Amino acid sequence: MNNFIYENATRVYFGKGGVKEYLASILKSYGDTVMLAYGGGSIKKNGIYNEIMSILQALEKTVIEFSGIMSNPTYAKVQEGARLACENHVDFILAVGGGSVIDCCKIVSAQAKLSEDIWEMENVRKNQPVDFIPMGAIVTASGTGAEMNAGAVITHEEKKIKGALFGEQAEFVFLNPDYTLSVPFGQVISGAFDTLSHAMETYFGKPDTNNLSDDINEAVMKNVIYNIRVLLTDNKNYHARSELMWASSMAENGILKIGKITDFQAHQIEHQLGAYTDCNHGQGLAVIHPVLYRHIYRDGAERFARFAKNVWGISEKETAEQTALAGVEALADFIKEIGMPTSFSQMGISETVDFRAIADSINITSGCCRKLTHDEIYEILKECI
Ligand code: NZQ
Ligand code: ZN
Repeated sequence: MNNFIYENATRVYFGKGGVKEYLASILKSYGDTVMLAYGGGSIKKNGIYNEIMSILQALEKTVIEFSGIMSNPTYAKVQEGARLACENHVDFILAVGGGSVIDCCKIVSAQAKLSEDIWEMENVRKNQPVDFIPMGAIVTASGTGAEMNAGAVITHEEKKIKGALFGEQAEFVFLNPDYTLSVPFGQVISGAFDTLSHAMETYFGKPDTNNLSDDINEAVMKNVIYNIRVLLTDNKNYHARSELMWASSMAENGILKIGKITDFQAHQIEHQLGAYTDCNHGQGLAVIHPVLYRHIYRDGAERFARFAKNVWGISEKETAEQTALAGVEALADFIKEIGMPTSFSQMGISETVDFRAIADSINITSGCCRKLTHDEIYEILKECI
């Protein structure tokens, strides 16, 4: 095990009824002006908006609504939120939604306290913000695990970069699996696949010697695979939804990363695909993962073989490489089984997209068994079409 320091500052309220029982008492300890941030309006249709609003009104909070946060939130939207927060002297941000709303709020929280541009500050001057408007989150669509970390993924449309920024971490989060019942089923599966991807991107990092983080990771991966399958036949199953919701947080709250250097090459590829096409995050990952792994499994045959045996239950073949490949193909078969796309064209991404420009703009990680080149990423992207 490598050296590590671990802390997670987010308090988790998991299960039914948590908002009703605890939100009012939590919000009493923050200031009077609350920014209620949400997406395109799903929370108005499923009753979550009314539930929260009545709590805020009973507390006589001044509510500033910040709505219309889109999937793959943009830098322009962050700036809009930061302006709104400054103009109204917001004391607290309540993010209600999926990863997009939570990510946008993390950066709004930081930008509102800065006199400089956060993109330039973090990416050019390599400084991190230290002052934030405190925030909390109510997750309505799970998968990204954004609720238990300080990282956000923001699309800078002019620069054509979908990249990580660091901002505020939610001080508390409500995870009520019932809130996810109205999420379109395709998005439920896409979110769950994103969780599996986070686990894989960590598992295939370094070192690849056995450690507790990887043992826990295998349990998370098996749990996600099992519970996605449960939802395929019983899509409102509360138990499966609750398992997937906690697995989502577990994959991104740092526990699986303890003592490891993660990979996240598939994510780097998907993010730039998103910068150019605004595609769905989990779907992009589903197409990219098997193609990427077919390119690299030979360089990490022992680790991929372990993945095949322990996660997919594949019996040992003659060579580690053969076992490894069987694991990658089991992953590819699973993606088909759960109805996720297996090509960019199935996602509606046109062949005319500039894949060369995408490939050249992708960050190359060094965490996995072999470092790729931009040319090889270009080949991977073409194989995904
Ligand atoms: O906008 P509304 O109307 O709310 O609709 C949303 C949106 O269309 C809908 N939805 C959410 N809760 C719902 C619901 N519809 C009905 N009922 C509900 N209860 O779901 C759609 C997708 O929401 P979104 O937040 O975009 O999805 P997701 O949670 O997958 O987040 C994706 C974003 O997170 C980033 C992705 O790159 C992408 O930008 N990620 C963030 C990470 C992090 N911060 O740790 C890690 C991930 O790897 C990922 O990159
Ligand atoms: Zn992801």
